[in-house]
Amino acid sequence: MPLTTTKDLFAKALKGKYALGAFNVNNMELVQAIVAACEEEKAPLILQISKGARSYANPVYLKKLIEAAVSLSNIPIAVHLDHGDSFELCKECIDEGFTSVMIDGSHLPFQENIALTKKVVEYAHAHNAVVEGELGKLVGSQHDEGEDSGEFNASGVYTRPSEAVEFIKATGADSLAVAIGNSHGAYKFTGEQHLDLERLKAIKAALMEAGLGDFPLVLHGASSVPQHLVQEINKYGGALPGAQGVPESDIEVARRTGCTKVNIDTDLRLALTAGIRKVFAETPKEFDPRKYLGPAREEVKKLVRHKVRNVLCCAGHAFD
Ligand code: G3H
Ligand code: 13P
Ligand code: ZN
Repeated sequence: MPLTTTKDLFAKALKGKYALGAFNVNNMELVQAIVAACEEEKAPLILQISKGARSYANPVYLKKLIEAAVSLSNIPIAVHLDHGDSFELCKECIDEGFTSVMIDGSHLPFQENIALTKKVVEYAHAHNAVVEGELGKLVGSQHDEGEDSGEFNASGVYTRPSEAVEFIKATGADSLAVAIGNSHGAYKFTGEQHLDLERLKAIKAALMEAGLGDFPLVLHGASSVPQHLVQEINKYGGALPGAQGVPESDIEVARRTGCTKVNIDTDLRLALTAGIRKVFAETPKEFDPRKYLGPAREEVKKLVRHKVRNVLCCAGHAFD
């Protein structure tokens, strides 16, 4: 099956009330594990690649890995640039055949974010590619610029519903990444774990009322940081004290509210690391990479099967 576009996947997901997993990849084992899991669960899939992944693995290696995955599987797969930081990078990826790009202008002043996103949209739409924009600033590692009025939280800037409408109307972006208390990485909350799900509902409603329909929203930082993986890592010599993620019940509400694309990277890293550490700890004489990367790949596959089946509910929807 050829690469698909996220636009097709979004329309079907919104209709079927499920979410798509957008899983970050940067090596062969991750690609194989994620694709095998989605193949077995008959789940549509977005594989996403960050700028850092491109410099780690080389764009050509990643392109060939994805070509292999697409040619060896039957499920619909879209390829997306995660957190594109310039027009040039987005253009490069579209020219390479990505079916979707994110332009992350969230660190820019509002009008500059609009101008940059609009420029990417014009190029992307002329080349049949789909664009994700971002408005607001995620808390934590991505941006941390202090608080302002009641619209702002302690360390990030929440997405305002009225600005979301203005942003989408002005840019023509196909989906919107929102800031509702979400953050990247394994340390998402210091106190109570929660996302501002009321704000998410308000953003969705504002877009609907403005005539933009059931508009696809994107949740970054959606890893749940499964405690069994954290415990496994810590038990086998790691040190991730206090790591915690988004409760699966919050993801469930986000999915029902129309968060159509749910970004997951940290949980994949945790599963892979737990698998490797276990082999190293239990069989210290082992040094064949296949003997530790193989079981680690199985851990990732198990995790992705759980996500698509029980959390995102996109299992069984590959051929909608
Ligand atoms: O949003 C960040 C993703 O987890 C990608 O992370 O830039 O380390 O590849 P990265
Ligand atoms: P996590 O760090 O929660 O996996 O988020 C990944 C992400 O948002 C990629 O864009
Ligand atoms: Zn992200």
